This record gives sequence, C-alpha cells and structure tokens, in this order.
Amino acid sequence: MNGLQLLGTGRSLPSRRVTNDDFARTLDTSDEWIAGRTGIRQRYFCAQGETAASLAASAARQALADAGVAPAGIGLCVAATFTADRRTPSLACEVHEALGLPETALCLDVNAACTGFVTALETARCLLLGGQMAAPYALVLGAERISGLLDFSDRSTCVLFGDGAGAAVVRLDPDAPWAAVFGTRGDGQVLHGGGPADPYLAMDGRAVFRFAVETVPACIRAVLDKAGLTLDAVDWLVCHQANSRILHSIAKKLEQDPARFYENMQRYGNTSAASIPIALDEMRRDGRLRPGETVICAGFGAGLTWGGALLRV
Ligand code: ACO
Repeated sequence: MNGLQLLGTGRSLPSRRVTNDDFARTLDTSDEWIAGRTGIRQRYFCAQGETAASLAASAARQALADAGVAPAGIGLCVAATFTADRRTPSLACEVHEALGLPETALCLDVNAACTGFVTALETARCLLLGGQMAAPYALVLGAERISGLLDFSDRSTCVLFGDGAGAAVVRLDPDAPWAAVFGTRGDGQVLHGGGPADPYLAMDGRAVFRFAVETVPACIRAVLDKAGLTLDAVDWLVCHQANSRILHSIAKKLEQDPARFYENMQRYGNTSAASIPIALDEMRRDGRLRPGETVICAGFGAGLTWGGALLRV
C-alpha cells in the first residue's frame, strides 16, 4: 500500500531515424545480425539542436497535459538519466526551466543507468510519503542522449542504443498497491563509459546478458513475494528494453508466455532510463494498458544495478 497513482504519461523521440540497413552502409554488420541477436530494427538519434533536456521537456509537457495537471501542481521532479547534457544544472532543473515549474518544487536527477526509471519512481514515492513536498504531484522521467557516448566505429555497441525520453505524472495513493526490490553489484568492468579513460560506452555483452537473465527473474519473484501476489495477478511485465532475447529468456525462467512482456526495442533500441516510461506511454495510448491494471516494471543495467516495482496504473 502507499503506492502511486499514474495520472498521465508522455514520450519524445528525436528526429533522426537510423535503421539497421543504415548502419550496414558504414559498418561490417547487417539487419539480419542485429535484429536476430537483439530484436532491434531501428533507433532514433538526436540531430543538431536536440538534447536530453529538449526530449525530457517535450515528454514532460505531454505527461502533464495527459494528466490534466498544471505545472503549478508539481511538488517534485525526478529525472533518471546517465547522459544529461551537462554536469550542472541537472536535467530535472532544465525541465523545471522549460516548463515553468514552481519555485517550491524539489528537482533532482538520479543515475541508476537502465534501472533509473524504477529508481526514480521509488525516490518520488518516498519523498511524497515524507510529507514535505509543497504540492501533491510528482513528475518522474527518464531521458537519455546515449548517442553522445557511442563509438560509431564499434559495431558491438553502437547498434544497440537509441536516444529518447518518457515521463509520468504520479501522486501518492494510500490505497494503491506498491512493492519494490532493488539490487546493486558494484562492477566497473562489465558495462562502463563516459569517463576520461573510457569516453565511449563499452561492455562485455555476454556478461551483461547473463547478469540480466540471472537477476531479473529473481527480482520479479521477490517483488511478487513482497506484494503477496502471484504472476497471474499481474497484467503486464514491462522490462527495460535492451534485447528481445533477454526478455524471452526471462519469460522462460518465469515459465511465462513472452507475449506478457511488452516489447518495443524493435523501434527504439535500448534507450536506458527512458525505455520503461516510453513503453508505459505507448501502452496507455494504444489502449493496451487500461486503468486499474497491475504492472511490474523491471530495470537492469550498468552499475551493475537492477530493480523492480509493482504498481497499479
Ligand atoms: N554485426 C555483426 N557482427 C557483430 C556485431 C554486429 N553489430 N557485433 C558483434 N559482432 C560479432 C563479434 O565481433 C563476434 O565475432 P567473432 O565471433 O568473429 O569474434 C560475433 O559477432 C559474436 O559476438 P558476441 O558478442 O559473442 O555475440 P552475442 O551473441 O553475445 O551477441 C550482444 C552480442 C547482442 C551484444 C549480446 O551479448 C547482448 O545482447 N548482450 C546484452 C547487451 C545489453 O543488453 N547491453 C545493454 C544493457 S544495460 C545498459 O543499457 C546500460
């Protein structure tokens, strides 16, 4: 209990669409290899003038409009990102400026890589529960411009990622169910980048695959145990969209039909913290995810980190 009510969502993708065939023109790769190993067929990258902040602001505006909440109603803005445009101000403060959020709002970023959005939801829930926010609604978003960290000559990483943003407006609901589980395995080798010695994203793809398939099913089971529910009571599983084969392996381990796991990496690639809120927005807008349904969101990625949360939408 003391969960979140999801009142509105939004998403924003940059304008430059890059297909697998586009990559195959400059790299020794193919649509067959990329789609076969990952499910990904295309992704969007920021063009000139597009930034993590512009994507975040656009997704946040849509989420506010969808929720019917004015900027003045926002007490808290939590932005999940590992690719903010600048060290400071934070992405959340850039959204504050772009949307004209009130001066009484607390704004902060969280960096938990692909676990970012689930972490941001729990951060927002706890801060709202603390009772010190000046207004009842929270803007929670995930936004990334991962293209800035990609080595476009490295076929093993650059084809996997995309830029994008997703946002949600939430408020505390004392009657709403909530259960969340998080984990960290500090490891600077398996998946890293963005430092002076390693400017580009680099990873051991097989190790990341194994890590995800080991931790995510256990995390989902732990969330269910906490909530006192079985998977039958859950309508949708919305996992971080890194790789279709990872999701199929997770489904197999949980003895579930993969169709219960939403997939959209085919269109966007891996957008890290943005992938879950983009999926939630798509699912709500196309009528797949209906009010009152129960969802488990699960993220996993660099850190290494993982986290799952059960919520009713
Ligand atoms: N096109 C063609 N060939 C390629 C490409 C490519 N784009 N990339 C790698 N290869 C080659 C390799 O060079 C290798 O060739 P070799 O056998 O001659 O050495 C061969 O394909 C096999 O490479 P593997 O890395 O063993 O391929 P694998 O089947 O493991 O698939 C992949 C690689 C897709 C990266 C997979 O390991 C994976 O999906 N891992 C998870 C990655 C992930 O999800 N990362 C992000 C999560 S977290 C975060 O987002 C921050």
